[in-house]
Amino acid sequence: MTGGKGGGRISPDDFRHVALAETVSTNSECLAKAREGDPGNLWITAGRQTGGRGRRGRAWVSEPGNLYASLLLIDPAPIARLHSLPLAVAVAAHRAIRTVMPPAAPPVEIKWPNDILVDGKKVCGILLEGEELADGRRALVIGIGVNVGVAPEGALYPATSLRREGASASPEELFAHLFLAVAEMLALWDHGTGVARVIELWRSAARGIGETITVNLPDRSLSGRFAGIDHDGRLLLDTGAGTQQAIAAGDVFFG
Ligand code: BTN
Repeated sequence: MTGGKGGGRISPDDFRHVALAETVSTNSECLAKAREGDPGNLWITAGRQTGGRGRRGRAWVSEPGNLYASLLLIDPAPIARLHSLPLAVAVAAHRAIRTVMPPAAPPVEIKWPNDILVDGKKVCGILLEGEELADGRRALVIGIGVNVGVAPEGALYPATSLRREGASASPEELFAHLFLAVAEMLALWDHGTGVARVIELWRSAARGIGETITVNLPDRSLSGRFAGIDHDGRLLLDTGAGTQQAIAAGDVFFG
C-alpha cells in the first residue's frame, strides 16, 4: 500500500470505489482485479452476492438490503506485521456502525477477532484473504459484510440487523462511513507500525475481556478467562493454574 499519489500518510482520496449490482463475491472480484494488475486501494461493493464467503469456509448469506464490501490492498505491510490488520479493520467497522446507530441504541462491541455485535448479536463479519501474485506482489483483500436490513436465520452465532436495532441508514450510507473509517484506521495502523494504538482502540471496544469465555477450535473447545490480546492479535486465554494460551483462530462464545 503506497501512501497515495504524493506518498506519505494515506487519506480517503487515495481510494477508488466500484459499485456492482450483483457478483459472486466482492472478495473474488478484488482478487481478480489484483491478478489483472490493479494497483490496489480499490473498494468493490455489491448489492447482492451469489457466493458470499465467510470465515472458516462458511457461506455468507448475501441477500439484497445488506452491505457487501471488499477492499483490495497491495503489499500493505511486511508479512510479519499483517496480523494486526484485522484488528484495525474491526475498529473501523465498529466506528462506522456506531455512527449510524441512534443515541440510545444498545451497545456496539467487537467480538474477537473482528465480528461486530449490537446488543450481543452479530451484525458484521470480516474476512481477510491474501494471495501472492505472479509478479511477486502480495494482494490482500478485506471483505466486510454488514447486516443492514436483513439478519440471516439459523446462523452459528445469534444475528441481528442494524434496522432491527434502530438504525435507518441504507447500505450506501453505511458504506460512506466505512470508507472514511477504514482510511482513517489504515493511516493510524501505518503499515503495521501503529499496532500499539490500534490494540488500545480495539480493547476499548471489545466485549468480554476479563470474563469467562469458550473458544471453539476445529478439533476441541477451550474455556477460561479472556485475558486480552497480544500484538499479533492472538486471543490470550487463562485456563487456570497460571496457564495462558495464545489462540490465533477460533469462534468465541461468552458466558
Ligand atoms: C464471517 O464469517 O464473519 C466473515 C464474513 C465476511 C463476508 C463478507 S461480505 C463481502 C465479502 N465478500 C465475501 O464473499 N465475503 C466478505
